[in-house]
Amino acid sequence: MSVSTHINQAVAWSVRKSVTAYDTVTGGVPIDLMGHGFLTNPYPYYDRLRADKMRRSHLINGWWQVDFEGVQHVLRHPELYTADARTSDGIGKQQRKLAERARVLNLHDESTESPNMLGVDPPDHSRLRRLVTRGFTTNLLAGLTPFIETTAAACVEQTDGDIFEVVGKLAEPLPALVIAEMLGVPPADQEQFRRWSSDMIANTGFTSKPDKQLPAMRAAYDLAQYFRKLIRERPLGLNNDDLIGRLLAAERDDVLDENEVISMSVLILIAGHETTTRLISNALYVLLKHPEQLAQLREAPDELLDNTIEECLRYESPVQTTARTVVSDHEFDGHELRRGQTILTFVGAANRDPQANANPNVFDIHRKPIKQISFGYGVHFCLGAALARLETKIALRTLLQRFPTIELVDARPDWSMNPIFRGLDSLPVRI
Ligand code: HEM
Repeated sequence: MSVSTHINQAVAWSVRKSVTAYDTVTGGVPIDLMGHGFLTNPYPYYDRLRADKMRRSHLINGWWQVDFEGVQHVLRHPELYTADARTSDGIGKQQRKLAERARVLNLHDESTESPNMLGVDPPDHSRLRRLVTRGFTTNLLAGLTPFIETTAAACVEQTDGDIFEVVGKLAEPLPALVIAEMLGVPPADQEQFRRWSSDMIANTGFTSKPDKQLPAMRAAYDLAQYFRKLIRERPLGLNNDDLIGRLLAAERDDVLDENEVISMSVLILIAGHETTTRLISNALYVLLKHPEQLAQLREAPDELLDNTIEECLRYESPVQTTARTVVSDHEFDGHELRRGQTILTFVGAANRDPQANANPNVFDIHRKPIKQISFGYGVHFCLGAALARLETKIALRTLLQRFPTIELVDARPDWSMNPIFRGLDSLPVRI
């Protein structure tokens, strides 16, 4: 098992040969999952697919799930749909191939075989999750707030004349520095982390990206080796309140082994910043595309900021899809599901289901209630949801306070060519 479900699955899919990813679904709607149209704006495609609730996917030998209730159903029932992709026909096989390739290239670290919480079901899942839950309490987050504020304030000083590049100067470094602080790794290593994780993320998707595969394998290997060295050399008795300290205490109590400590650290590092980066920049971008709502937010941030962030999560989910594997043959919604098939649970599509939210393709910071499952649902509900909301709140507040005017430089910046993680490659704004 590799670093996280998303990365596992995506890397596994990425070893397929084709450079496009036409997924012939029932109803004759051909969708190129790596095509510019889908990656720039997947929502009209989701709308077309939703009419049938669940669609057969030939590419991954499984199904697309795009309606709100259906996605919730799959994520709520680990006994029917497992998070352990090793049991899947397509993805599990591809994962093994990939691990073999890494072995041949001497880029295989044993810890990538150790399950982290995202890839296991209860009761194992509960055991692993419990070990780190205390690292995310409200009190701990409150204690972290001054650090996030000071870091955000320093980030927004990195202007270039009247231009500020939001992704590179704020949305990427802020969550990376915060997660480094929480884990208890030196801030100076943060640059290196960003490179490793961006190499790993760059290889995610549904098709082969030969030029990205080797850097991704090397990055996964180097990151695992980095953590192995860090925990072996960490002096005993060092602050045990950071996340690595907690994991090492669990190792001393024989609850975890070294490979599990590494696997968990890698998961938290990657999950902790790649997604938040996208939420911060997607949120600002959507607000800049709706200047009248941005003006309202500037007028009443205390009243509107929390709801605005929920609406940004709903409207442009940083994670578009997660996945599960069917545990045993059964019928669901008129479809015959077979053991080992993969179900892609498109949370980004579920958020736009008109059954869940009226006029779902309209962005509205006043919307209430907001039904969104961008942080997942059920036992794997995102552990870092409160942290991500806090960081995004501080980032947006800092931006609005620091820059009295903000305008898009490019009305249509490029979306990264990744169907799983949705975000902008860069977001230069005029200040
Ligand atoms: C906007 C930011 C974020 C988004 C959209 C997001 C999204 C998600 C989603 C969709 C899942 C569930 C995946 C599944 O069910 O297969 C998840 C799980 C998880 N997330 Fe996040 N996440 C974000 C930020 C964070 C942060 C800041 C952290 C940690 C510092 C974090 C740590 C985790 C962990 C550890 C899990 C696995 C939980 C489990 O398996 O029980 N995430 N996240």
